[in-house]
Amino acid sequence: MNYDVIIIGSGPGGYVCAIKAAQLGLKVAVIEKRPTFGGTCLNIGCIPSKALLHASEVYAHASHGMDSLGVEISKPKLNLEKMMGHKDATVKSNVEGVAYLFKKNKIDSFIGLGKVLGEGKVSVTGDDGKTQELEAKNVVIATGSDVAGIPGVEVAMDEKVIVSSTGAIALEKVPEHLVVVGGGVIGLEMGSVWARLGAKVTVVEYLDAILGGMDRDVAKQFQRILVKQGMEFKLGAKVTGVEKSGKGAKVTHEPVKGGDAETIEADVVLIATGRMPYTEGLGLEDAGVVLDERGRVRTDNHYHTNVPGVYAIGDVIAGPMLAHKAEDEGVAVAEIMAGQAGHVNYGVIPGVVYTQPEVASVGKTEEELKADGIKYKAGKFPFSANGRARAMQASDGFVKFLADAETDRVLGVHIVGFGAGEMIHEAAVLMEFGGSSEDLGRTCHAHPTMSEAVREAALATFAKPLHI
Ligand code: NAI
Repeated sequence: MNYDVIIIGSGPGGYVCAIKAAQLGLKVAVIEKRPTFGGTCLNIGCIPSKALLHASEVYAHASHGMDSLGVEISKPKLNLEKMMGHKDATVKSNVEGVAYLFKKNKIDSFIGLGKVLGEGKVSVTGDDGKTQELEAKNVVIATGSDVAGIPGVEVAMDEKVIVSSTGAIALEKVPEHLVVVGGGVIGLEMGSVWARLGAKVTVVEYLDAILGGMDRDVAKQFQRILVKQGMEFKLGAKVTGVEKSGKGAKVTHEPVKGGDAETIEADVVLIATGRMPYTEGLGLEDAGVVLDERGRVRTDNHYHTNVPGVYAIGDVIAGPMLAHKAEDEGVAVAEIMAGQAGHVNYGVIPGVVYTQPEVASVGKTEEELKADGIKYKAGKFPFSANGRARAMQASDGFVKFLADAETDRVLGVHIVGFGAGEMIHEAAVLMEFGGSSEDLGRTCHAHPTMSEAVREAALATFAKPLHI
């Protein structure tokens, strides 16, 4: 069979690329090894975790967040099976949504393991072992990433006691003690879910701060909030062993700076120490596709690999492992393959941690600006001085602006607070248009809204905030 484009992988990168390519008039096929479309994000990642984050937050709110608002209710009862049912139904409707979009856009799909055979040739092997060959002018590798495990430590994940994010969204009961290895995004999101449902949660993190790579101010404030919520942290602690012990597991860690090892007992251990590009069984070596030193498919600025007509996007190439980065690359590569000028602005890719409160960020952190020797000015505004936040008892956190000291062009915005993941897009649009803190500070904001804190932080950057 002959196609203009064959995409291997139907995660946010692959399926969005397929839709865009079809919209641009190309004949498209997608190869997917799972029985459902949507990749890690829709099946076992972003979507199910958000369903659990929402449901667990409702439970936590009902447990201890309502009395102070004058709403007295009896202690809520957790029905974990039903909560998991909500998660499964959410996944089902999302993956079916992708199937519907494929049909609507006349995209062919093949369920099976895709393999790149070289220029313009791909094979797909189904569950029945049968292999068929397909031909296409262009091939897009969008195979995503997989759990990386702990570097240098052998861990046997059974997804029941020692789990990755896949097991952490499907536990059958609330663990008494959950130990999370890695204080990154997955560890804090999934740690939050189980802490809200009643687990004692201990996060063991190698670095001396959680959310490495995020603005330090934000990470510090966020950690304080999580400690108030009951989470425990062991920072600067390197996990050197995780093994099953009785019905649970033991986690051994030692101070990064040197010192004695300690052991923590847990019912469940979540390994959240990063992800790695997924290229297994793709036949890239035989096809001559070059990988970089970290196992990622090497591409040029137009997502082209070294093999003519073979492109790659998403987690399997360099850059942040984020669904929306993959989606934007999917659109860009579809445009490029259709002869248009596809482009992604990597300076304006928001990052969100979907905890309560949320953490959101776009552009440079203060640490990055310092390291780059860029002269900047900063403006900050706390939600405790925002009327709407007080009315909603959501006054934890702040907004921080970083702008060029001379031109006032906004270089980074960082928010920790209720709804940060929505508010950050006001900063993203501003930055996409090369806006200044004055541009935002002079934009009328509805009152009373949390977003007024964003405006106040902008005012604090080029002039003075009004309400503090
Ligand atoms: P991560 O890279 O965000 O965090 C891993 C953490 O583990 C790091 O802080 C690292 O210092 C620590 N670590 C590594 N080895 C260790 C050891 N031996 N002992 C103690 N700590 C150790 O990785 P994570 O959380 O697994 O997420 C994987 C990817 O998925 C990330 O790229 C993330 O951006 C993405 N993701 C994004 C989400 C979002 O945008 N909301 C949600 C979930 C995942």
